[in-house]
Amino acid sequence: MVTLLEVKDVYSGYGKIEVLHGVSIHIAPREIVCIIGPNGSGKSTLLKTIVGLIKPKKGSIRFFGSEISGKDPEEKVRMGISYIPQGRNIFPTLTVMENLEMGGTPLGDPSRIEMAIREIFERYPILNKRKKMKAGSLSGGEKQVLALARASMIKPKLILLDEPSLGLAPKVIDEMYRQINSINQEGATFLIVEQNARKALRLAHRAYVLDLGLNRLEDTGEGLLNNEEVKHLYLGR
Ligand SMILES: Nc1ncnc2c1ncn2[C@@H]1O[C@H](COP(=O)(O)OP(=O)(O)OP(=O)(O)O)[C@@H](O)[C@H]1O
Ligand SMILES: [Mg+2]
Repeated sequence: MVTLLEVKDVYSGYGKIEVLHGVSIHIAPREIVCIIGPNGSGKSTLLKTIVGLIKPKKGSIRFFGSEISGKDPEEKVRMGISYIPQGRNIFPTLTVMENLEMGGTPLGDPSRIEMAIREIFERYPILNKRKKMKAGSLSGGEKQVLALARASMIKPKLILLDEPSLGLAPKVIDEMYRQINSINQEGATFLIVEQNARKALRLAHRAYVLDLGLNRLEDTGEGLLNNEEVKHLYLGR
């Protein structure tokens, strides 16, 4: 089996505070993998460690087989790893257009950026309509569409999403998940961290439960949805 991303026995944290105590996950190409777990269990820390905002103290992170744990975030973007942090990665005072242009910076050539924006506008007509508006004035759902579009500018192989449904209305969440699904069907792989665990597990091919900085459970999305322990402890039945 080809592995797109393999995180193996990773220890990571902030200064002297260790948050991840030996976490391992793996993702195959074209999978949607979800991580759920209680507040403070280290979900965001794991994503930050994968993208290189934090360097792991121990363990290995491999992308298509090569070690990337020492590389900085810019290098990882160029390798095809896109990251949307918790709270979304858009610049509210810039226009929709400017946000997309910034997302395309790693493409270098302005004509490639222009072409990518044209494709984005075809896929998301709403962004075309709003292109001159400040990103901060968009609705919550539109902001999340913009964040996804911005991350898609480089045609990433792997998209890391931290709590994409946070603060969104249920209908908007469903729409966003449909978009994730269609981007996935075109070839992108997703690693999604969610509090809104039920919907995320329905979408995910496989999922992990992280608790206190340790792997707790691992199964198909469906399997975890029907797991009594998961229902009781993590899905707030
Ligand atoms: N910048 C930081 N400096 C020090 N400690 C931090 C920092 N960011 C997070 N932590 C701590 O690391 C632990 C894990 O935080 P993390 O944000 O990874 O959890 P999470 O699973 O994403 O939680 P949530 O569901 O609330 O988003 C928490 O105890 C948190 O207080
Ligand atoms: Mg978090």
